[in-house]
Order: sequence, then C-alpha cells, then structure tokens
Amino acid sequence: MVYHVASIPGDGIGPEVVDAARPVFEDVSERFGFELALTQHDWGSERHLEDGSMMPDDGLEELEEYDAILLGAIGHPDVPDHVTLNNLLLPIRKGFDQAICKRPAILFDGVESPLEGYEGGDIDFVVYRENTEGEYANVGGQEHPGHGHEIAVQSSVFTRAGTERIVRAAFEAATEREGHLTSITKSNAQAHSMVFWDQIVEEIAEEYPEITVERLLVDAASMDFIRRPEQFDVVVASNLFGDILTDIGAIITGSMGLAPSANVNPSKEYPSMFEPVHGSAPDIVGDGVANPLATVLSGAMMVDHLSEPEASDALWGAVTDQLADPDAPRTPDLGGSSGTEDVIEDLRTRL
Ligand code: NAD
Ligand code: IPM
Ligand code: MN
Repeated sequence: MVYHVASIPGDGIGPEVVDAARPVFEDVSERFGFELALTQHDWGSERHLEDGSMMPDDGLEELEEYDAILLGAIGHPDVPDHVTLNNLLLPIRKGFDQAICKRPAILFDGVESPLEGYEGGDIDFVVYRENTEGEYANVGGQEHPGHGHEIAVQSSVFTRAGTERIVRAAFEAATEREGHLTSITKSNAQAHSMVFWDQIVEEIAEEYPEITVERLLVDAASMDFIRRPEQFDVVVASNLFGDILTDIGAIITGSMGLAPSANVNPSKEYPSMFEPVHGSAPDIVGDGVANPLATVLSGAMMVDHLSEPEASDALWGAVTDQLADPDAPRTPDLGGSSGTEDVIEDLRTRL
C-alpha cells in the first residue's frame, strides 16, 4: 500500500522537526510493509517574503489529491502572524473541513512535569477541540481607521452542526476511554454561543447515559488543568479555548515539544492534517535543539488514521521507551543537552 502524504514543513523549527522525523517514518513504514510517499511543499513565510503568497492560488486543490498532510509550523518574525496563518494553516483546516482536532496530553514515564508529585501515567487526557468555526470564524471587519470612533468587530460563529459533531466525537472518544467527559465553556459571560454549546452537550449526553459529564468554566478549568489534571479524561472545547488549554496540557506533561495533534476531516472527503501543537519557536530556530518528538507522535496519529495501527503503536512505543530511559538523549526542553538529530538517531535504533 502506498500512502501519498503532502509535507509542509513551513517556518522556523518546522523544517527542522519535519526533516528530522522523516527517516523515522521511512523506517516504520518499511517495517510494516507500506510506503509513505512524502512530497515536500515549500510553502510558508519565506515564499511570502519572495512573492507575497504563502502557497499557490490552487494550493488546496493540489493538496486535495493526498491521503494526508504533515505540517511542521507556520509563523515568521518578519511577517505578521494573522497574514501567515490566515493564508496557509487556517485555510487548510477550514477548507478541508477538518472539524475535529484531537490533542492528547500524556505525562510519559521519565518525563518531569513542572507540577510537583506527578509521575509518568498520572496525566492522560485528550482534548477535542472544535477546529473550523467558533472564535476563529473570519466574520467581522474594521472601519473608520484613524478616527476616534475606529471600530473592530470579530464575531464568533457556533453552528448546531459544527457543535454537535465535535461534542459527539468527544462522547464517542469517552466511550473508548475512561467514560468521563468535561465540556469547557464560558456560559456565564457568553450567554448566546456558550449556552447553546451547553445545551447541545446536554442533548447529546442523553445518548450516552454511561458517560459521566462535567461542565467547567474555562477560567476554573485552566486552574484545574494545573490543580487536578489527573481527573480529566476527554475534554471538549471551542476552537479558541481548545487552543489555549492544549498549551497548558503540553507544558504540564513536560514540553511543547512532546504534544502532537490531528486535524481530522470527519467525512473523509478531504485529507486530514497532522502537526505538532507547537509553533515555529523563533527563540530556538537554527540551534539544532528543537524536540522532534511532537512531530514523530503526530506522524503516529497520521499512520493510525491511514489504517496502519501497528505502525502507530510502534512509534508510540519507541517514544515511550526512549523517554523512560534515563540514559537516552534529550533535548533541552526536557532538561537534556542533546540535539534534534541525536534524539532521532536513538529513536531509530529503538524502532
Ligand atoms: P511556540 O510554540 O512556537 O513556542 C513557545 C515556546 O515553546 C518557545 O519557548 C519554544 O522554544 C518552545 N518550543 C516550541 N516547540 C518546541 C520544540 N519542538 N522543542 C523545544 N521547544 C519548543 O509559540 P510562540 O512562540 O507563541 O509562537 C511562535 C510562532 O509560531 C508565532 O508566529 C505563532 O503564530 C506561530 N504558531 C504556529 C503554530 C502552528 O503552526 N501550528 C502553533 C503555535 C504558534
Ligand atoms: C495551534 C496554533 C494555531 C491555532 C495558530 C498558529 C493560528 O496556535 O495550532 O495551536 O490557534 O490554532
Ligand atoms: Mn496553539
């Protein structure tokens, strides 16, 4: 079986981690008897600085032919973030209706959490983030620039269809996990959109009587991610809240450099996209110390999505094994002094 994957390394440490992870994907596919044909797309901010475009005009049409997309990161200090992200990453998520964003937060054995008293296995939850609407809707505008009455409006959009499908996906995930779902909103202040969300959670909960449902406000939930992260199983949240909460999820489980994600198109009409949760990390770019494991694990989520669960398990297993080994190389974000390539080389021997 050959799977055609469009790789978009992007900006900053994106190319460092995607290039590093590539041989790991070659190893695992060879071992499990399939081929991952990765085609590199040099789209991103360098291209924008040269010709003003983040990707070709027909970029999405080109990507549509692939079985999956592997992305590094987007974001460049010389180009405004709203330009880079709204012309590459977000159009892919929206254009390919990648409505379900899955972001696991796992504290691996051998990884130190900044939270005292937590050990490997103590934190293990997954955030289901709504990924195509909510606070990320491009609805609004600016008027009267330069005047005292200048305005900016950005409206959130919550549709029944969009909310139902992320909530239902989260309930389904809870049936496969520990049977506990936490829905995180801000219904005390957002009396339209978030009350609507709560109502849909309540309706869908009736279809899943075996799942225990907890509702939290996002401010308190942010505290509880730190105070009692062990009690979360499946978390469901809107686009913006899911974004913010998953950075907390990443750091309490050791590092941004370990957090993977999947942007899933539920209808399978379009390719899904797999990418680390982290950004282009301009503070460490070019130092050769970016942690490539979030990208490796995003690849593990990708091969699972491509119906190669054994290859996925092998990747998760090799990463778990490496992190548990006190003598294995580690990048500085995990307290080590090794480089990206050392981590990959060691991982390949474990595979
Ligand atoms: P960031 O995730 O890039 O970095 C936050 C911190 O985490 C930095 O200290 C960085 O060094 C560290 N870090 C991140 N990934 C790491 C890795 N693999 N190994 C070791 N350390 C790692 O977030 P930021 O600084 O807020 O954003 C930088 C740029 O990236 C901005 O332009 C932002 O818009 C963009 N961004 C893009 C994505 C994406 O493409 N999916 C995600 C987040 C941010
Ligand atoms: C993420 C990122 C993006 C998001 C940005 C870069 C637009 O922070 O994937 O977590 O907010 O979704
Ligand atoms: Mn984010």
